[in-house]
Amino acid sequence: MADQKAELTIGKEKYEFPIHQASVGPDVINIGTLYKNTNRFTFDPGFTSTAACESAITYIDGDAGVLLHRGYPIDQLAEEGDFLETCYLLLYGDLPNKEQRADFNERVTYHTMIHDQMTRLYSGFRRDAHPMAVMVGVVGALSAFYHDSTDITDEKQRMIASLRMIAKMPTIAAMAYKYSVGQPFVYPRNDLGYAANFLHMCFAVPSEEYKIDPVLARAMDRIFILHADHEQNASTSTVRLAGSSGANPFACVAAGIACLWGPAHGGANEAALTMLNEIGTPDRIPEFIKRAKDKSDPFRLMGFGHRVYKNYDPRAKIMQKTTHEVLGVLGIKDDPILDVAIELEKIALEDEYFVERGLYPNIDFYSGITLKALGFPTDMFTVLFSLARTVGWIAQWKEMIEDPKQKIGRPRQLYTGPTQRDYVPVDKR
Ligand code: CMC
Repeated sequence: MADQKAELTIGKEKYEFPIHQASVGPDVINIGTLYKNTNRFTFDPGFTSTAACESAITYIDGDAGVLLHRGYPIDQLAEEGDFLETCYLLLYGDLPNKEQRADFNERVTYHTMIHDQMTRLYSGFRRDAHPMAVMVGVVGALSAFYHDSTDITDEKQRMIASLRMIAKMPTIAAMAYKYSVGQPFVYPRNDLGYAANFLHMCFAVPSEEYKIDPVLARAMDRIFILHADHEQNASTSTVRLAGSSGANPFACVAAGIACLWGPAHGGANEAALTMLNEIGTPDRIPEFIKRAKDKSDPFRLMGFGHRVYKNYDPRAKIMQKTTHEVLGVLGIKDDPILDVAIELEKIALEDEYFVERGLYPNIDFYSGITLKALGFPTDMFTVLFSLARTVGWIAQWKEMIEDPKQKIGRPRQLYTGPTQRDYVPVDKR
């Protein structure tokens, strides 16, 4: 809908652009005709003011600390629902009724096994490979095993590929972990819930019984819900861009995993825990706060700040509660890293530098501590993020493919290199 118009003046020329209304949040100026009419591009590195697509999945108000999936606040979904329900909501647009929920859970549950030949891929990796490297490879390889769901023009195949990825990602991730610790793969158990099954595949061994504490399974499920989708972040935009060329969904999600790996994105919880370990004791916090403020020092407080949230990350609040529940069940009271985390949070929340810039602890600050307590090594943290984010990537990819206005993504540039010059033979250079 375009009721209002924006006007742009360049020299003596005036140009008009339609403004499209958002259901909530900022409207957008449609500058699609800008280049054609003005021979100019917009310049917005990092896309800080650019909406690259129209979407009805997730809404974030970073200043107010709001995160909605299909209109539902994240805290309600995390407190009252479960991960598979959130998956259904993201994929189909609404919460499932009882029958839809049972049917969806069954379809996911019965796709958890992976093609047996895929298990051989793992032994091609070094045992000390980062599990994210393994994830990029194995998830990309899904397209070599499930040919019957790579035709993106077929709606049924798109949905089968989507369900396959949601169902198989825990198995693939757990196998990456088992391979790294030299233990045999544990196959999925369909009598367990999604999160409990994942914990079982990670921590059970054939030689003894593994009992899953329901509080820990619930915490795992909550971590999945909190990471399920987050609007047009870097990895989601990567998935959309990869998909815009018509690439198959397995390949697109592998591209998303590669992007998520970076420390400014999904790698932040790993980086946050590494930083807490480096700080070591609360008395060293002022030294690190000083470094974080020093512009000549590249050090940043990992787990603080967010591109979109300039207020408390709503996910961080729930994560903080979950962290304490997990530590309570596991009887962890005197963890020095936790002491550092609590003290660091207190100091940073009162410090003028952090307050002025709206730098609050983000979800990664707490999820690292929780995942460590659950028994995961730090290099698995981003893997768990990718497992949970898979549904968001797929929902966004499907939305893009099903959008009649969809085009291949092709950003332009401000060229500042040499102008045309003639080739110089090597003996004359
Ligand atoms: N420690 C110290 N200073 C910081 C930090 C930090 N963690 N984050 C931002 N700043 C400062 C920055 O130096 C700048 O200061 P000034 O205005 O004086 O130049 C100001 O705050 C704004 O920073 P920015 O780099 O323009 O902000 P951005 O929106 O580009 O960056 C960010 C967002 C998340 C990359 C950044 O805050 C950061 O590097 N945080 C640490 C890494 C981290 O925890 N990432 C997880 C993000 S949440 C997970 C996800 O959704 O993927």
